[in-house]
Amino acid sequence: MSKGSEHKAEESCSTKRKLPSKEEVKEIREKLALQDNISRIKHKIIVLSGKGGVGKSTVATNIAAALSLKGQKVGLMDIDIHGPSIPKMLGLEGSPLRGSEEGLLPVDYSDNLSVMSIGFILQDQKNAVIWRGPLKHSLIRQFLKDVSWGELDYLIIDSPPGTGDEPLSVIQLLEDADGAVIVTTPQDIALIDVRKAITFCSHVNLTILGIVENMSGFICPYCGKTVNIFKAGGGEKMASEMGVPFLGRIPLEPRMVEAGDSGKPFLQYYPGSETAKAFDLAIKPLLSLKDK
Ligand SMILES: Nc1ncnc2c1ncn2[C@@H]1O[C@H](COP(=O)(O)OP(=O)(O)OP(=O)(O)O)[C@@H](O)[C@H]1O
Ligand SMILES: [Mg+2]
Repeated sequence: MSKGSEHKAEESCSTKRKLPSKEEVKEIREKLALQDNISRIKHKIIVLSGKGGVGKSTVATNIAAALSLKGQKVGLMDIDIHGPSIPKMLGLEGSPLRGSEEGLLPVDYSDNLSVMSIGFILQDQKNAVIWRGPLKHSLIRQFLKDVSWGELDYLIIDSPPGTGDEPLSVIQLLEDADGAVIVTTPQDIALIDVRKAITFCSHVNLTILGIVENMSGFICPYCGKTVNIFKAGGGEKMASEMGVPFLGRIPLEPRMVEAGDSGKPFLQYYPGSETAKAFDLAIKPLLSLKDK
């Protein structure tokens, strides 16, 4: 073999080596389809906490409702695969899913607020489902790639407790999320976990849009005085120590439980309350996020 043909053979060999495998092509196609599907969503915000039961779903629902009542087009995506609570909180349990040519349609709560949750897929929530990491990842990918969200100003994502597979998947898949809203309660024990959530965000390069201190002080319905059942101010102190924005305190509000259980976003039904005002303040920095 002459030197020239040897060179050509080497060249074609190396070209061959560069060709992506079928799997890689599939992966690239899926990534492009996902990016194309979410390209009309201006802002993507993940609601996180280091700890369970601090009110993430309540805060996510009320933030989504507050933004939608300000005329913003909002999608609310519930990636709490083991315990989806958004359908119940918005009175949408049992809503059938419909498809269109463009994909699976989210369920409309109002003209401005649409929702997708595993709760719509697993209608019988009494059965526990065992999901391993890769399955969770592919479900979250489907929510972003195959759900026809259309044009949205905001996609609010409600995560399960902690900093596990689900938030990690969604951050990786989105690539350009605006950032996280971290929810905490004022006790020291919850604040230890919030520190973990902050560290998680910095590891995965996710901007922290702010901390919400939920269940912060109880406003007595009889005398109007504030009682700090779980202490107060810890979230704000933590935010200033860690150099992240503080979005405000949401009081412990008995009507919030009632609203959540009966499928009505609190904010919409008690718009003049202190709690609704606190949500309105909390969304201010979100409303002024710059369009990308
Ligand atoms: N500010 C509040 N005042 C009174 N009750 C609240 C408040 N915030 C949340 N709750 C109630 O606390 C309970 C837990 O709230 P929620 O489900 O939102 O927490 P979560 O952090 O999403 O929980 P999980 O970690 O299980 O997903 C619910 O019954 C909810 O109605
Ligand atoms: Mg929740």
